[in-house]
Amino acid sequence: MALLPCVCLGLFGVLCWVLDAADRGAFQPQSALSEMEFASVVSYRGPGNTDRRSNKELPILLWWSGGLFPHFPGDTERIDCATSSCLATSNRKVQLYKRTTSIIFYGTDFRAYEAPLPRLRHQTWALFHEESPMNNYVLSHGPGIRLFNYTATFRRESDYPLTLQWLPSLEYLLEPVAVSLEEKNRLRREGLAPVLYMQSHCDVPSDRDRYVKELMKYITVDSYGKCLNNKPLPEYLEDTATATGEEPKFMSFVARYKFHLALENGLCPDYMTEKLWRPLHQGCVPVYRGSPVVADWMPNDHSAIIIDDFPSPKALADFLIGLDENDHEYAKYLEFKNPSRITNTRLLEALETREWGVNDMSKPNYLNGFECYVCDQENARLAAERAYKKAPKTNRPPQPKMASNSHMGCPLPSPGYGEAQDLPSDDGWLQIWPQDYWQSLDQAEGLESLIRHNESDPSLLWKHIQNIAVSRARGKQ
Ligand SMILES: *[C@@H]1O[C@H](CO)[C@@H](O)[C@H](O)[C@H]1NC(C)=O
Ligand SMILES: *[C@@H]1O[C@H](CO)[C@@H](O)[C@H](O)[C@H]1NC(C)=O
Repeated sequence: MALLPCVCLGLFGVLCWVLDAADRGAFQPQSALSEMEFASVVSYRGPGNTDRRSNKELPILLWWSGGLFPHFPGDTERIDCATSSCLATSNRKVQLYKRTTSIIFYGTDFRAYEAPLPRLRHQTWALFHEESPMNNYVLSHGPGIRLFNYTATFRRESDYPLTLQWLPSLEYLLEPVAVSLEEKNRLRREGLAPVLYMQSHCDVPSDRDRYVKELMKYITVDSYGKCLNNKPLPEYLEDTATATGEEPKFMSFVARYKFHLALENGLCPDYMTEKLWRPLHQGCVPVYRGSPVVADWMPNDHSAIIIDDFPSPKALADFLIGLDENDHEYAKYLEFKNPSRITNTRLLEALETREWGVNDMSKPNYLNGFECYVCDQENARLAAERAYKKAPKTNRPPQPKMASNSHMGCPLPSPGYGEAQDLPSDDGWLQIWPQDYWQSLDQAEGLESLIRHNESDPSLLWKHIQNIAVSRARGKQ
């Protein structure tokens, strides 16, 4: 490794020694893999898999992000997937092993300055990211996402899409309306607002509070939680204010409202959460901003109100007031509760064909599902490489595969209401999110440069970012 002969002095001596030891292990032949370490690995064989290889012969998938390893107990397990088997481990000792064919990352925890370097040619990178785009904008830039060969993200374009991860089933949507329209109207006469807003995560890239604040000038909104609060939660609910779960008391509390403001914390195609599906489940009408293509997944074309279809908060408020006063028109939004009115075949097909389940023990979860997707892909790639080596005249080498911007690609955050250039320069949102987005691009480009230069030390990231900036300023790029 490049660091080895370096000036190993003082405190850094320890660091260099560690790298030295790791390095020597790394390039040892395969047989050096400790028998002890892998002999005790739990082994079972799933149905349909005829892979008879012993654990010692299997490719290794390394889960890089410490917090996420979908096996228990221990740090290594044999996985038997649809067509082949692998060893999955969270033990970073195997980082540079020849048998380690793929490294799996959790997007939220992926840090360019901690990436496994040098990047080895025989290893693919796999990205699992089901959470909000706001958690890591590095992945929203081409140079960041293109470092990965396989992806599982909320976007339908990813290799193993998790788009409907927050929608447990069709039955969940079809659940009868929790509070009847008569009862909702009675509650309205008692002074309940037509619209609910419940949010405790306030400073977010979608800048939703700025929009809701404007909307509240024109229509009454009961706002609980920390953001734009104008009502206290009943004491019995205080603990569940931020819960995304389905606590029954919380559910019946929110089900009384005709409309739920449902604004995601980050805006990105196909990023949809329980904020959208829960009101549909309860028979409240979501007033939604999030995925700009949300209509593609709705039960029919009349089940959600899309904020961006309206020219202004006032126009939206007027529309909601009209619906509040017109039972016939309001009821149309709930017609999808009748199965024959669910006309979106894309939605039906996706629910039918996805192999993973949500809270469904009879199906694999998507974490193990993606791991198996990577395992089968890697075994197929290795087999194709072997076949090509053996008979290069009759076989083609496997084609490289890498992710594109459409596997994540979330846009630059923009203000929830109004234009960025009209905001005062000390605006809190302006100072955080657009900067975070562009700094993430720097990091993606820096990492790409580290890899291109075959660096072994990810902490050189900052130096590479600086070099890129300097050469850009000189007009070289
Ligand atoms: C990249 O670096 C590694 C470790 O420092 C070294 O073994 C390898 O030969 C280098 N590869 C290239 C193409 O320079
Ligand atoms: C994986 O992605 C990297 C970076 O984009 C690329 O250089 C490499 O060829 C890909 N590997 C495979 C096996 O497709």
